[in-house]
Amino acid sequence: MKILVSDALSEKGLDALKQNPEFKVDVKTKMPLSELISSIGEYDGLLIRSGTKVTKEVINAADKLKVIGRAGVGVDNIDVAAATRKSIIVMNTPSANSISAAEHTMSLLLALARNVPQASNSLKKGEWKRKDFMGSEVFNKILGIVGLGRIGTEVAKRAQSFAMEIIVCDPFISQEYAQKLGIKLVDFDNLIKQADYITFHIPLTPETKHLINKDTFAKMKKGVRIINCARGGIIDEEALVSAVKEGIVKGAALDVFEKEPLGESPLLNVDNIIITPHLGAFTEEAQVNVSVDIVKGVVDYLKNAIINNAVNVPAVDPQILEEIRPYLELAEKLGKLSSQIIEGRLQEASIQYSGEIINYNLTPITVAFTKGLLEPILEEDINFVNASIIAQERKIKIVESKTSQVENFTNLVSIKLKTDKGQVLVSGTLFSKNDPRIVEINNFRLDAAIEGFMLVCSNLDKPGVVGHIGNILGENQINISSMQVGRKKVKGQAITVVNVENSISNDVLEKLKKHDKITDVKMVKL
Ligand code: NAD
Ligand code: MLT
Repeated sequence: MKILVSDALSEKGLDALKQNPEFKVDVKTKMPLSELISSIGEYDGLLIRSGTKVTKEVINAADKLKVIGRAGVGVDNIDVAAATRKSIIVMNTPSANSISAAEHTMSLLLALARNVPQASNSLKKGEWKRKDFMGSEVFNKILGIVGLGRIGTEVAKRAQSFAMEIIVCDPFISQEYAQKLGIKLVDFDNLIKQADYITFHIPLTPETKHLINKDTFAKMKKGVRIINCARGGIIDEEALVSAVKEGIVKGAALDVFEKEPLGESPLLNVDNIIITPHLGAFTEEAQVNVSVDIVKGVVDYLKNAIINNAVNVPAVDPQILEEIRPYLELAEKLGKLSSQIIEGRLQEASIQYSGEIINYNLTPITVAFTKGLLEPILEEDINFVNASIIAQERKIKIVESKTSQVENFTNLVSIKLKTDKGQVLVSGTLFSKNDPRIVEINNFRLDAAIEGFMLVCSNLDKPGVVGHIGNILGENQINISSMQVGRKKVKGQAITVVNVENSISNDVLEKLKKHDKITDVKMVKL
């Protein structure tokens, strides 16, 4: 396998990579985009930091690529959607540089409070201006943290040791998590109104782009200080310059910018704005950590198919994976079965989990269902990486729900598919770890193995139907391994599920349908 390292990585990680004889490693940094596009087709793995832009064009040309490893956190330099569509795993090193980024945030916060860079510059010019650089204590001041993830949490702990009062806005964390850290959770508007210092630790996304703009500056406390060590673009730089000039913002410290490298910018001409060239993770320790961690992640994946820290596949602990594997298989088979017995164009698919299964992380199980659902319908390769994005592209809404209530079973997975012609309901369960069963189709109770080749017939529960099916299959040398009839009332509508040992041709299916009590026959291949 060939691996391209297209940004500088610390030697410790590179050495670990080169120790694997099955990899040929090419280190080519600062490649022009055109060269990356023309050569990426040879590689199985790509290792980058923030310098390489992995655009859609790069991904389109990456015919052998299986994994992109980002030594660092932000994956905004990678077209993750395009990679996912092409089943390329994107992985990063989520916590390898958190401490460095948190420490840099603290140094910027203190530098802002005490005008350290400005005073240093002035003294070096031969001045001795103490009055101009009067600082203020951070003790007892309110620090507003936007985003209480890995770095936000480390910043909070460090600021607490300076006796700052911490308020946090993060709609995706629980009140309990904040309380445990002794932090008050507030909404965004309250945070920006109350805080003396505001620091950002969130990703740049379409929702967070220019989160801080002219209008939000207008709501802030006069004299607020702003720190951004997360991503450029979260703060509208033009609006920041105006807010500093108007005196709303007393000072700002930025490590990240809308355009990097920064180049010509109005930020350069404002004394109260401190800038550093994206140094948050630039420590000896963090550079070694990200390099070692990403090499381990990429090697584990390419050699042993172990996925760690992927941003485009649901994360599952290996031990938990073993526990949920039977459910993954059940959900995938239910998806496959249900999509082979529907009629019409699929519009919505829902999966309901009931009983003890809800104690697990259900996301991977829903992905397994989505994969099973799409496989029989689409020509292309569907896998755990691309299944969800392909469903989205095809406007198939996948709805997940769960309940602890379940009758007759300890666990139940129920699928409902809606098409432009009607709907199909299928439920399955695990009788034991290795015994997945279908227990319901369209409200008819059953107990059938969910495996191999199956016939699903809609018929009237009348004498002769089972004989007709048996005769036709027998005449065509198709062995039946089991047969189940699900009915609500005697001689009424029924569903007959026949497990057979080989595939059934269309001719045979047509012969099976030629019985006045059989309304439909579907062949299912699992
Ligand atoms: P993380 O994923 O651990 O945490 C991000 C947090 O932001 C999450 O808790 C999430 O719930 C929250 N969040 C998302 N959208 C939000 C919103 N609109 N409002 C409030 N909260 C929101 O990420 P992390 O590892 O802490 O990294 C944070 C940022 O720092 C990332 O953008 C990363 O790229 C950047 N970073 C920069 C440097 C640097 O060198 N300057 C170094 C490392 C990381
Ligand atoms: C990150 O996202 O990890 C940091 O911004 C550092 C980097 O870009 O390498």
